[in-house]
Amino acid sequence: MQVLSNSSISLEESSKFIEQELLGCFDHSNFIVFRGQMGAGKTTLIKKICNFLGVEESVSSPTFSLVNQYSTAKGQLVYHFDFYRIEEVEEAFDFGVEEYFDSEAICLVEWAENVEELLPNKRVEVQIELTLEEEKREYTISLHS
Ligand SMILES: Nc1ncnc2c1ncn2[C@@H]1O[C@H](COP(=O)(O)OP(=O)(O)OP(=O)(O)O)[C@@H](O)[C@H]1O
Ligand SMILES: [Mg+2]
Repeated sequence: MQVLSNSSISLEESSKFIEQELLGCFDHSNFIVFRGQMGAGKTTLIKKICNFLGVEESVSSPTFSLVNQYSTAKGQLVYHFDFYRIEEVEEAFDFGVEEYFDSEAICLVEWAENVEELLPNKRVEVQIELTLEEEKREYTISLHS
């Protein structure tokens, strides 16, 4: 794991963060894992990223399925996963998750912990931590390869 950046920022500052720190990482890998406790801000950050990419569909955590599908302004596919409810890795396997992971699409993944052994080696990791200031989060971006 190679740490690329570490910053404490508010929601208002997050657009700049996405533009200046995060989108550049997509050159390394289209597979982005978002880690952090419930309410840390994984979905919130994913929404903002999708907004930047020109996604027009409404972005929310998949509830009835494991994945939501969007497309960017440039016509690239985005898969948004939430594995929170997965109890056995087999459930994701049966769902055919590997085909999604192996595709050329941008994959944005919440609760990857529940499918850890299925994750591609080459990926970007975004760790989100609460801070002492209610409106700020600490974001750490690393490359995994
Ligand atoms: N700097 C910040 N970045 C992200 N979210 C923030 C920030 N400051 C405050 N928040 C708030 O924290 C909450 C994060 O909720 P969100 O649903 O994104 O969390 P989550 O990590 O996806 O949780 P879950 O594990 O339940 O899916 C939102 O209400 C958001 O407005
Ligand atoms: Mg979420």
